[in-house]
Amino acid sequence: MTTRPHKTPTAILISGRGSNMQAVVAAADDPAHPAQVVSVISNTPDAAGVAWAHERGLETPVVDHREFRGDRARFDRALDTAIRESGAEFVVLAGFMRLLTPEFVTSWSGRMVNIHPSLLPAFKGLDTHARCLAAGIRISGCTVHFVVPEMDAGPIIAQAAVPVLQGDTESALADRILAAEHQIYPPAIAAVLSSDCALDGKEVVWKKGRSFQTPVPMFSPHIL
Ligand code: GRF
Repeated sequence: MTTRPHKTPTAILISGRGSNMQAVVAAADDPAHPAQVVSVISNTPDAAGVAWAHERGLETPVVDHREFRGDRARFDRALDTAIRESGAEFVVLAGFMRLLTPEFVTSWSGRMVNIHPSLLPAFKGLDTHARCLAAGIRISGCTVHFVVPEMDAGPIIAQAAVPVLQGDTESALADRILAAEHQIYPPAIAAVLSSDCALDGKEVVWKKGRSFQTPVPMFSPHIL
């Protein structure tokens, strides 16, 4: 008899397209994945991902940041209420474009993760791909990390390396990295929810014998 893992009720926060959200929802449909997506929460009603999640029958509360007139603390309290009302005990940021207050972040410490389209700590913040191309780096990638008050600075759970190719445009590089994001986010979330790893102070500690296996090859075969 196979035992099914306990599923943790999980909220996914989005602001736009929601392709990472879709990858996580699809992975969590598998009974073996330890996340149960209970809500997809957006800060804007017209995020494309909201329509997709709604069609899938998911709860899609909207906490519209425009109604809070720059009062971040009040916005974050409303967000926190929406998350808790959906029953979520774990938060996945997936292209959520609002800065969160230290109070909110601290209250979800060790239970909130984000994905960023660069190999952190390089290229934090916005316009990542344009800055990668301008810098002439040959390898970029993506990073899954616990969320801490400082933006894009949380302890790293998983990374995947992606080559920057001759003649790349921002959108070509973004697409290549996005494909890697979709591959690493679901297993990275699974690693946290199954307690293979956890946030311990300022670092991610893995259980003995466990580590993140990147599914993306680091070296092109024609170079080796
Ligand atoms: C992704 O590149 C993610 O790394 C970044 O924002 C983008 C969101 O894309 N944080 P999507 O909404 O998941 O398609």
